[in-house]
Amino acid sequence: MPEQWTVTLRIYRQKTNEPSRYDTFTLEVNPDEYILDAIERVWAFHDRSLCFRHACHHSTCGACGMRVNGVEKLTCITTIRSVARPNAVLTIEPLRNFPIISDLVVDMGELYRKMEAVEARAVLPITEAEIEKPPHQWKTEDSQYVRLSDCLECGLCISACPVAATSQPYLGPAPLAAAQDHRLDRRPDLLTLIDSEHGVWRCHSAFECTAVCPSFVDPGRRIMDLRKQTISAKIRHFFGK
Ligand code: SF4
Ligand code: FES
Repeated sequence: MPEQWTVTLRIYRQKTNEPSRYDTFTLEVNPDEYILDAIERVWAFHDRSLCFRHACHHSTCGACGMRVNGVEKLTCITTIRSVARPNAVLTIEPLRNFPIISDLVVDMGELYRKMEAVEARAVLPITEAEIEKPPHQWKTEDSQYVRLSDCLECGLCISACPVAATSQPYLGPAPLAAAQDHRLDRRPDLLTLIDSEHGVWRCHSAFECTAVCPSFVDPGRRIMDLRKQTISAKIRHFFGK
C-alpha cells in the first residue's frame, strides 16, 4: 500500500482583466508523485479552468516550470516528498519575470527572442539526413545558429535572476550562456550585443540561475567565462587582430 499524505495546493490564479487570487485544493497524494501529477489531479477533478503547461513529463520539453514555495522547479521531476511534509501547504505560482497569460502559464516569447538575438535556437532547421550524424557535423540552413547544449529553454534561470527582475532588456542567463557557447573568438560579430549595457556586465554574479537550472547548464559560470571572452575579444579588437 503506497504511503498517503494530505497536502494542500495553494495555486496562483489570474485570468485576463481579472485581479489575481490564490485557490486552495486539499488532496490525498502519494508523496513520491510529482508536483505536476498533483496539479493535473486538481485540473481533472476540481477545476477544469486551471491553466498550466506540460508536455513530455520527463524533463525534456521545459514546459512545466513553475515556482513551488517560491523556488523555481520543473514540476514534472520534483517529487512532493522533496518539497513538503504531511499536511503541508504548497504554494504554486507562475515563473517570475515573464508576462502571465493565464494562471500558471507565462509568455516565454521574450526568452526565445533573446536566444535568437545571440543566434541560438530551441529548434534547429536540420534535415532528417543530418540528424543521423553527430551534432558537431550538422549543417543547418542557417549554420550560424546553434543549440545551447542541454538547455531546455525552460526559463527557470530567468525567473530566478535578480537582475531580470529589475531590467527587462537584460539578455539574461540562458541567452548569455548560449553566447558563451558560441565563443566570441569564433563569433566576434556578437561582441557589440554582449558588451552592451544589457549584456554580460549587468550580471550581479548571484548564481541564482545556476542554483535552479534543472539541466546543469550552469549559466552563472558560463557568464563569468563570457566576461573573460569579452575582455580578450576587446583586446584583440584594440590591436586589430
Ligand atoms: S539555462 Fe537551465 S534554467 Fe535556463 S533555460 Fe536553460 S535549462 Fe532552463
Ligand atoms: S513536462 Fe516537459 S519538462 Fe516537465
